[in-house]
Amino acid sequence: MASISASTLLFFSLVFSLSPVILSASVVEDLTKLQPPPDFNSTIMTNCFNNPSLRYCNSSPMDLMEIFRFTIVASHLCNESKNPNCADSFPKIDLRSRPKVAPLYLSFSFFWKYCPLTILLIDLSNNSLKGSFPIEVLNCTQIQALDLSHNKLSGDVPVQSFSSLTNLIVLNLSYNHFSESKMSDTEFFKRFNASSFLHSGLLPDRKKFSMKVVLLLVCFPILVIVTVGCFGCLCLRRPDFLPRMFRRKNKFTPPMLKAATGGFSRKNLVGKSEGVDIYKGVLRDGTEVRIEIYWDDMSRESRRRFIEECKVVTQLCHKNMVQVLGWCNSRRMRAIVTEWMDGKNVEIWISESAPPWKQRLKILMGVVNGMCYLQEEWPEVGYDLRTSSVLLSDELEPLISRFKLGDQSSSSRKIYEFGLFLLEILVNKIPSGHEFQSSEHGFIDHVRMHYPRNLRKVIDEKIKMTERIFDQAEKVIGLGLMCTDQSGSHHHLQLGQISNIITRAYESWDVLDSPVQNRSYVDKGKGHKHTQ
Ligand SMILES: *[C@@H]1O[C@H](CO)[C@@H](O)[C@H](O)[C@H]1NC(C)=O
Ligand SMILES: *[C@@H]1O[C@H](CO)[C@@H](O)[C@H](O)[C@H]1NC(C)=O
Ligand SMILES: *[C@@H]1O[C@H](CO)[C@@H](O)[C@H](O)[C@H]1NC(C)=O
Ligand SMILES: *[C@@H]1O[C@H](CO)[C@@H](O)[C@H](O)[C@H]1NC(C)=O
Ligand SMILES: *[C@@H]1O[C@H](CO)[C@@H](O)[C@H](O)[C@H]1NC(C)=O
Ligand SMILES: *[C@@H]1O[C@H](CO)[C@@H](O)[C@H](O)[C@H]1NC(C)=O
Repeated sequence: MASISASTLLFFSLVFSLSPVILSASVVEDLTKLQPPPDFNSTIMTNCFNNPSLRYCNSSPMDLMEIFRFTIVASHLCNESKNPNCADSFPKIDLRSRPKVAPLYLSFSFFWKYCPLTILLIDLSNNSLKGSFPIEVLNCTQIQALDLSHNKLSGDVPVQSFSSLTNLIVLNLSYNHFSESKMSDTEFFKRFNASSFLHSGLLPDRKKFSMKVVLLLVCFPILVIVTVGCFGCLCLRRPDFLPRMFRRKNKFTPPMLKAATGGFSRKNLVGKSEGVDIYKGVLRDGTEVRIEIYWDDMSRESRRRFIEECKVVTQLCHKNMVQVLGWCNSRRMRAIVTEWMDGKNVEIWISESAPPWKQRLKILMGVVNGMCYLQEEWPEVGYDLRTSSVLLSDELEPLISRFKLGDQSSSSRKIYEFGLFLLEILVNKIPSGHEFQSSEHGFIDHVRMHYPRNLRKVIDEKIKMTERIFDQAEKVIGLGLMCTDQSGSHHHLQLGQISNIITRAYESWDVLDSPVQNRSYVDKGKGHKHTQ
């Protein structure tokens, strides 16, 4: 105690001698205006002689001007801090809630460098101080209390430097924006308890931490659930928005069909019959499709059969089959999605465009090829061979478009249907009101009646006839009649035989059409012979 009061006295004997002048003006003005008195050097020397521990005594070389300015700031700060009697003592720097002057005093680094030994408490709290930790303050190594709380200090706290402040008992760094300490287990944090670092940013905030834990425990599962939910919803409603690997290839949903048809708009409705709407639609990838929608109610069993059928027909793949892209099976509706055909069906084509002989043969050949494919690969798939249900592609390939599964019709029935299809393509329609018009049997009998002698009467008059065509027509229509003969008098024709006959007939025209006319003439004779 004795030494402290001694140094106090020494120091303030100096300040006191200056005080009448100094304290009358602001500190900055005094710093610029005031000059040290002539005997300042000797005063300092005397002080150091009496108390060598004074900080300025240990600086070398001694900067008299700086030491003088220090004494000015010290006397101002002592008074600002409302010390009881600055002439006698300077035990505290109290700049609490003084945001105007606190930064100014902090900026006088020469003051902190010579920090008076009498100061035991520094309170700079509640001043909105910005920037990094005011490390100069730690030059006052003798202090017992330091309060920097309620500021906006940021960055790292120089934890290591505190080790020299051996007298420090109370520290308050609360309510600042320091960076979280990477050394939270060092001596420093054992010395002071948590109330020194409330909301300082220095220690991991337990509340924040628990918030994080809660967020993680609550939000993560929610996020997962929401993601899975969205994913599931997409799966159920718009699988076309999913990456390809998550899609089920042939599965369409009502929302997908709704989107494809512009909300089932009338504009896209291309056909309608009882319980069935046919729409033209565009899928998300731009594919144009034909969508057949059945609105009827179905039993569970028939629904199951419907799906089985769809699963099969989507696997059909042949040049002469309409590609079935998929199906939709929901509580409200069932639908089949196939590729879109701009062309018409064979029935309309024949009546509207009067196609030449060769093109008609091409249709027959395509249909037979399709039939062979189905017979070999998918014998359980039945199909409809009416001229109205065989479609035409842009390249005038016939496309079998109506399939039914579990079709029990025998192969001879299929051959019969083909024969009828053949005749319908090559033979005049029977005018309405005619005695044979009513049934297909009537139609076949009508052709048979004129075959072969009056054949010219029944062959479609729109075919441009030549001798060669007539020869061929005779054979082809003869084939058609054989196919449709159910009397059992003929041996059963096989699909393969029919295919051979039609293909050869068609190919003989290809040879004829080829640019090398001479050769084709020779071949023509050959081809002709073959068909016999
Ligand atoms: C102060 O006085 C001492 C002698 O008393 C002298 O040695 C020293 O150089 C002086 N310092 C300055 C800065 O004038
Ligand atoms: C201390 O400062 C106050 C104003 O804050 C002033 O009125 C007073 O005179 C000063 N004391 C001395 C000793 O200069
Ligand atoms: C902080 O200072 C402001 C004035 O600058 C004052 O109104 C407020 O009460 C002080 N808060 C504390 C905790 O001292
Ligand atoms: C003041 O503090 C700085 C930084 O902590 C240090 O480098 C310097 O030596 C100190 N000066 C005194 C006189 O203690
Ligand atoms: C923390 O220290 C202060 C004084 O240093 C004391 O009042 C307080 O009870 C201590 N709190 C805990 C949790 O130890
Ligand atoms: C530090 O200051 C805060 C806010 O003013 C206070 O709640 C806390 O108790 C103080 N801590 C200590 C160790 O004084």
